[in-house]
Order: sequence, then structure tokens, then C-alpha cells
Amino acid sequence: MSGEGIGFGKAILFNEHFVVYGVPAIVSAIGKYTIAKVNPNNKTGWTLTDNRKATPDYKEDKIDQQKDSIKLILKKMNIDLSKEGLDIALDGTLYCASGIGASAASCVAIARALSEHFNLNLSDEEINEIAFEGEKGYHGTPSGIDNTASTFGGLIWFEKGENKIMETISIPAPIEIVMGNTGKVANTSAAVEGVRNRKEENPEKYNEIFDRAENIAYLARNALKNEDHKELGKLMNENHKLLQQIEVSSRELDFLVKLARDNGAIGAKLTGGGLGGNIIALTPGKNLQEEVANAIEKEGFQTLKTVIGASRER
Ligand code: MEV
Repeated sequence: MSGEGIGFGKAILFNEHFVVYGVPAIVSAIGKYTIAKVNPNNKTGWTLTDNRKATPDYKEDKIDQQKDSIKLILKKMNIDLSKEGLDIALDGTLYCASGIGASAASCVAIARALSEHFNLNLSDEEINEIAFEGEKGYHGTPSGIDNTASTFGGLIWFEKGENKIMETISIPAPIEIVMGNTGKVANTSAAVEGVRNRKEENPEKYNEIFDRAENIAYLARNALKNEDHKELGKLMNENHKLLQQIEVSSRELDFLVKLARDNGAIGAKLTGGGLGGNIIALTPGKNLQEEVANAIEKEGFQTLKTVIGASRER
């Protein structure tokens, strides 16, 4: 037997970081994915061959977290490799970088490949739970938003909590976006930890920011449903400002956000853990998408042109 599985990349449209504290967030899977393949070998334990394309240093920086993550996945699935070993290989169309869901995509892909290999027939819900465990290897206390987008695909309203809420947001048509990669690999754990410390030190200031973030999520959901791109872009810009206030932006992220806006993006913000990684720019229509991507590439940064709101693309 061998097994194969995929996990989607993702872009958080609203409320990364705030989501860790139960504030609603909006995320979309993107049309790029990681594929995992597992094959039995005649040894014991597991090996990993990572053929994913990646930002320089990404794979090297994450290797220890990646190993922890695979151990957590195997443990959660009660897989014992002391008698029969497995070779795990990763590949796919998702270019690994911070902020794009690379860790979640690989956790989901590996969980699916293992499920197939061992004939477990796991549901998406079960895969999502396993991937959530795997995500703990990368960032200690994940909210679960990344693995949820990576498992289910589509555009999702997400609220962490005992009664986790996960709703698909249906929109009339997918919307073009551009993601811009600062090329800086960032540590999500450190970013989340930083917010926690500053929040504890300045509860009043942070409560105010968090309240506004919550409002933005509800307004954004309406704007998405109504195809009000102008309002959506305005809310993304405001969301970026809040993320700056909680100090998870960076010089490079701010530069790319401004560059995207100056070249016509309706809105732009950092996406994911911040402190490096990616921005997301709202660019409805192929022409605008092309213009914004060209402007970013002209400055020497890598881009990804994709859409939000498509269901399970591959
Ligand atoms: C990382 O993609 C998103 C964060 O909100 C962390 C999390 O939700 O687990 C920064």
C-alpha cells in the first residue's frame, strides 16, 4: 500500500492574531497545494524527503518544527512505525513561505496520505483534527484557522473556542488577489507570543483594538456577500492598521502594502503571522491583478496570483 493526500495553502483576509483570542476571522484557501506521498520501506521509523519549492531558509529554519509536527501527527493517529517504516515525501504547487499556510498544508496532506496508506477512511473533520495537532509542532498554540482552510478549502468564517464555529461564506464569484512575499521567513510562535506579552502589559489599549477587529469581521462578511469590493478593501486597510498597532507588521510588509495600494489594489494588508512573510492585495479583475503583481515583481519581490472564494480548486 502507499498513500497520497493534499492540503491547500491559505490567505487570512481578516483578523490573524485576533483569532487566537476568539475574535472571528475570515480565511480563504488558495488554489495552490502541497501533496504528501507515503510509501512503506523495509526499515523502521520514518524518513522525509521535502521537494517543495520554498523561500530561501524556509525549510532549514522550520526543520525541527517540521519533525516535531510529524511526530505529533503520528502520535495522534496512533501509528506505530517500530516494525514497519515509512518514507514521507512532500511536493506540490504551493511555494513555501511564511503567511501562506505552508505548515498547515503539509500537515493536512500528510494526515490524508497516512489515512489512505493505512486504509483509515478518515473524514475531513478527522483530518482537520489531526492537522491541528500537527500545527502545534510549528506554532505551539494554533487557533486552528490555518488547518481548517487547508482541509476544507473555500472561504471560511472561523471562530476559535470550545464551540468552534466554522461556516462557509458563499460569494457570487471568486475575487482575484495578489500575494506578495517579503522573502523573510518569520516565526509564528514568536509573533503570537509577542502579542500575548504586549496585550498583558497594555490591556486597555489592546481591548479597544480587539473590539474594532471584531466589528471589522462582521462588516467584511457583509461586504463579501454583497460583492462590495470597495468596502472590503477599506476594511482590509483598516485591519492592516490594527495589525500594525499590535506590532506584527514589518518594514518590508508595510512597503509591499503601500506598493500594492499605490498601484491600484483596492485594499492590502499583511496576511498570516506577520513579522515577514506575505501580504494580500485585493485586485478584482485579471487586469488589475496583473498590474499590481507586475509592480511588486518590478521591485524584486515574488508574487502569487490567485483567487479567494473558489471551492476546492486543484
Ligand atoms: C497564522 O497563520 C495565524 C495566526 O493567527 C496564528 C493562529 O491563528 O494560530 C497568527
